[in-house]
Amino acid sequence: MKLPDLRNFDLNGKRVLLRVDFDVPLRLALQVADETRIKNALPTIEYLLSQKAKIILLSHLGRPEGRIVLDLSLGPVVQTLRELMPQINIKFPIKIPGEDEIGVLENLRFDPREEENNPEFAEKLASLGEFYINEAFAVCHREHASIVGLPQLLPHAAGLSLLKEVEVLSGILENHQRPLVVILGGAKEDKLAAMTGLLKFADQILIGGKLPLLSQKSKNVVFADLNPEGKDITLETVEKFSRIIQTARTIVWS
Ligand code: 3PG
Repeated sequence: MKLPDLRNFDLNGKRVLLRVDFDVPLRLALQVADETRIKNALPTIEYLLSQKAKIILLSHLGRPEGRIVLDLSLGPVVQTLRELMPQINIKFPIKIPGEDEIGVLENLRFDPREEENNPEFAEKLASLGEFYINEAFAVCHREHASIVGLPQLLPHAAGLSLLKEVEVLSGILENHQRPLVVILGGAKEDKLAAMTGLLKFADQILIGGKLPLLSQKSKNVVFADLNPEGKDITLETVEKFSRIIQTARTIVWS
């Protein structure tokens, strides 16, 4: 699969809507507990700044179900972004950014129209920019206004991290060595829906994280046993997974 590459467009001085996935875990004190997703977006942000683009960041955080939930504000994410990019003025919630500045919109899912893929909401978002970039790999399966509505209204391209994800995964689909082992974790039960597709392609699927609590047994799928607190896999599972991983010639780890 080949996606349009942002480097093939003239973005000089343009107002660019950059859809990122800053759906990061938070600590109780409303601090970002894992910066990985924010750091993943930095190469694209830096590239756009080098092109003198005016960047407007769009993201969701959690599942506020169309209501304003203060604990799911993007404020803590913006704080982390400011620490990672101290030289850049970051305006939040959005004010139209100037050159060398970034504006961040509040959590898109505070508005129910985001998840409804409402055309008026998409148009309202589109009116803020001249170009759209998707840098939100983990949300690409969602039919939401900021994912599928915006690229219908604006010229668009994929961000550097999304390009890489798609390139690597396409490469594995087309050309891999067997046994192929997929390792899945996390807490979101809808990931399990992807298993039917994965089962056609993987020799074994190892499921860790909180997913085992929600699943049923099936062939070629190995579920972790969790420790009594339910927060981690047991040492026996570590050994079982290790044995399978050692036989693999291709590993896909989500
Ligand atoms: C994720 O963390 O998987 C993405 O941000 C998508 O979030 P969602 O499952 O709430 O749509």
